[in-house]
Amino acid sequence: MNERIASLPKAELHLHLEGSLEPELLFRIAQRNDISIPFSSVDELRQAYRFSNLQEFLDIYYQGMNVLQTEQDFYDLTTAYVDRCAADNVRHVEVFFDPQGHTARGIAFETVVKGIVSGLKDGEARHGISSGLIMSFLRHLSEADGFEVLRQAEPWLGQFVGVGLDSSELGHPPIKFSRLFTECRNQGLKLSMHAGEEGPADYVREALYEIGVDRIDHGNRALEDPELVDEIKRRNLCLTVCPLSNLALKVVSHMSESPVHRMLEAGLAVTVNSDDPAYFGGYMNANYQAVADGLSLTSAHIRQLAINSFTGSFLDDETKMSFVNEIEKHD
Ligand code: ADE
Ligand code: ZN
Repeated sequence: MNERIASLPKAELHLHLEGSLEPELLFRIAQRNDISIPFSSVDELRQAYRFSNLQEFLDIYYQGMNVLQTEQDFYDLTTAYVDRCAADNVRHVEVFFDPQGHTARGIAFETVVKGIVSGLKDGEARHGISSGLIMSFLRHLSEADGFEVLRQAEPWLGQFVGVGLDSSELGHPPIKFSRLFTECRNQGLKLSMHAGEEGPADYVREALYEIGVDRIDHGNRALEDPELVDEIKRRNLCLTVCPLSNLALKVVSHMSESPVHRMLEAGLAVTVNSDDPAYFGGYMNANYQAVADGLSLTSAHIRQLAINSFTGSFLDDETKMSFVNEIEKHD
């Protein structure tokens, strides 16, 4: 199965660029920016990557991104991720970044976006990997803070395919951001929200009915509500599930509990993604392999996941179909 996974064209739809900051690069960037970090080695840092829930991870994730200061840092981060995608035969990526994690530290919005955009552009030139950039709002902050970052983003909106909502889910339901997301929709941006990772099925319901999202990130707990499952299916909404992330953050206690198989069997447009691969131990192919093994998936399931990754993307219909045709011809 691993050769089949490796050779299939795939798209990644749920990846936080800051979560692809590998400890080696983190150390290198910290050194050149003369930033001290409370770990003496790469190994010691990696040892700290043990989490019992989402918040424990987020605390380390925000600490890690503090080393990113210059345009070059964001360029190097992006370049390393795209190179890693090429190795996994990932052909298209739609990536999140968290501007508020940087502007709150005094880094200019422009510094962040310029570094990422040029990293994606050069990555496409080197590997032919296309991309969409998704600006993600931090849900533990206020809606007013979100509007402020949207104001700063104004000159760059043409660079973004959509907006997202991430960070601490519990206590911060989608409805908290309904005016902000309406404004983003009016600006022509696609809408995606993390929902149902730790939060209840009701948060997924809100994302659908109150926000009108185009895609749901995670969505695991939607399975607890059969009516909601029917509606997600009716709207053909893509769910971007992250198997190794779910295991690392104790969203599931064993890979056999991953919702991927149940979602496939329910006819939902589920995809497999890496979320924060530097922290959760694997990129795209490792995530595919983990569900293939943990859920005894068939090669038809794997093919369907690869097809869903393109049909669930924000690519145009013609490009989606050309990838789907390529996968269908693949043996
Ligand atoms: N930010 C980065 N990764 C995240 C995740 N899995 N859930 C919520 N916020 C995040
Ligand atoms: Zn995520």
